[in-house]
Formats: sequence, structure tokens, C-alpha cells
Amino acid sequence: MRPLLLDFGRNRSLFERLAAMLDAEPGAFERRRFPDGETYLRFDCDPSGRRIGLVCSLDRPDAKVLPLLLASAALRDLGAAGVGLIAPYLAYMRQDKRFQPGEGISARYFAALVSDHFDWLATVDPHLHRFDSLNEIYSIPTATVPAAPALAAWIDDNVARPVLIGPDRESEQWVAEVAKRAAAPYEILEKVRSGDREVRVSTPRGKRTSETPIIVDDIVSTAQTLIETIGRVREAGMPAPICIAVHAVFADGALEALTEAGAKRVVTCNTIAHPTNRVDVSELLAAGVAPLLGSHQGEADG
Ligand code: R5P
Repeated sequence: MRPLLLDFGRNRSLFERLAAMLDAEPGAFERRRFPDGETYLRFDCDPSGRRIGLVCSLDRPDAKVLPLLLASAALRDLGAAGVGLIAPYLAYMRQDKRFQPGEGISARYFAALVSDHFDWLATVDPHLHRFDSLNEIYSIPTATVPAAPALAAWIDDNVARPVLIGPDRESEQWVAEVAKRAAAPYEILEKVRSGDREVRVSTPRGKRTSETPIIVDDIVSTAQTLIETIGRVREAGMPAPICIAVHAVFADGALEALTEAGAKRVVTCNTIAHPTNRVDVSELLAAGVAPLLGSHQGEADG
């Protein structure tokens, strides 16, 4: 029996590409809100005995998570052989320690919640900073898919003499891999965050005025990290940089602010549907999902 994929997100083109690459049946279901705001779900496809993946990127996660948990519980109750979560962007990874007295470690609690309700999880470049891998907090099998091959290919095709800039230490894991694949030099800066929208970034030491700087980060949310880094790059005498982020979270007004700050171009992956999406990660994601979903990936193309 072909696996079943259910689209709980707002990225139909990514969903359709995944379903085709995984040779999975796109499942039909009814989803609406009762007048009191509660979620109603009814599956038109028979989940009994099926291996199922729910696809939903978890930007602005709070409204998305409860319907996903209810769906998983219902599908298991209806006899599904296994229910996994395909979250191209994985939420609640940044509160990975107690920064202030009285805070919780949301990354751990969220991981426990997802692990309780799903049989496996697949995602693209989760924000691994103080945890080395998802296995430290998730108790289910996980696939962590790197966007680096797709980002490096975009750079190869679009930028003649790139130099990559990482705005903070944790960005090195993405920047170094992209730089290696694109055969480009890179520099990692130091960042100090003092609030949601307050960051300071160090100035690049390498005065590379004849190359095109590309700032690479995993997430763009308020865009303050990228905006501050643009300032430091220009201060170093470098040309206007291209800004690349894997996940286009973009808080309100962030893209406009980033453009005003002098980004030459803003490029993101299609893990979250956004007008800046230029890099398609569906093939990489499908390859990560296939063993977990138990799909015969590639047969669809034959
Ligand atoms: C955190 O360290 C991440 O890697 C990003 O740098 C951060 O999430 C970006 O957030 P913002 O766009 O709000 O500065």
C-alpha cells in the first residue's frame, strides 16, 4: 500500500513535490473550526494500516500544533500503521536553555510533546545550538536534512565571486558546509543578543572588496541579525551583501526593513512559503523522509 501524505500546512507546491517524489497518495480530509473555535477533523481517506506523514511547517506554531496532535491521535485511533511529522521548519528550538531565572526550556518540552504524539519526525536544518542533535531531546527517530547542497548550488549558479559571512558562532555549522560545497571563503562573526530585536555583531576582519558578500543564516525572524550584519559588512568596506536564510520566518515588516538596510538580494529556501523562496529543498527533504515513511522513493519517476 502506498503511504499517505496529509497537507496541514500552507505550502501546497512543496507538499505536491514531496508526494510525487515519495510516491505517496495525497490524502483528503475535512478540517474546520466549530463556532467555539475548536478544531473539527474528518478523514476522507481510510488510514487503517497506512503509513502516514503529516506535512506542516511550524512557523507561527501555536495555532498549528493542536490540530496536528489531534490529527495524529485520530489517525492512530483509526488504525494507522504509523504517523510521522514532516515539519520543513521546526519550531521551539531557540529556547534551548534557561537564559533567565524562572524560564523553562521550551525546546525540551516541545520535543517531548511531539515525541509522545508521532512515530518519527523529519525537518530541514533545525536550530541546533546547545543541543548537538535532535536525538538529545526527541525520543522518536528523526531525520535532519541539511539545505547546504541546495544553497551551494544556488550560489554556484548566481554569484561569480562569493565570500560567505556567518553572523554568529552557531551559523558556522551551515556556513562552513555551504562554503565548502561552493568552494568559497568564509568568515564567522561574533553576535551578542540583548533582546528580541537587539543584537550586536562584530565587524568582518577580512577586507574583501572585490568579492560579493553573502550573509548566511538558518532563520530570519525580525531580520535584526541580518540588518546588523549588513551594517558591519559595509563598515568593512565590502559591497552590498546578498542575504540567504534557510527558513523565511519573517516577523511583520522584517523583509521591508532588511531591504531598506541595503540587502542586495534576499534569498530563502521553500521550507516556509514566502516571496523570497528561490532554493528548492523538496528533493533533499524527500530523501530524508523516505526511510522513515517507508516509501519507495524514486519509483514515481520510473
Ligand atoms: C539564532 O541565533 C539564529 O541563528 C538566527 O540568527 C536568529 O534566529 C535570527 O533572528 P532575527 O532575524 O530575529 O535576528
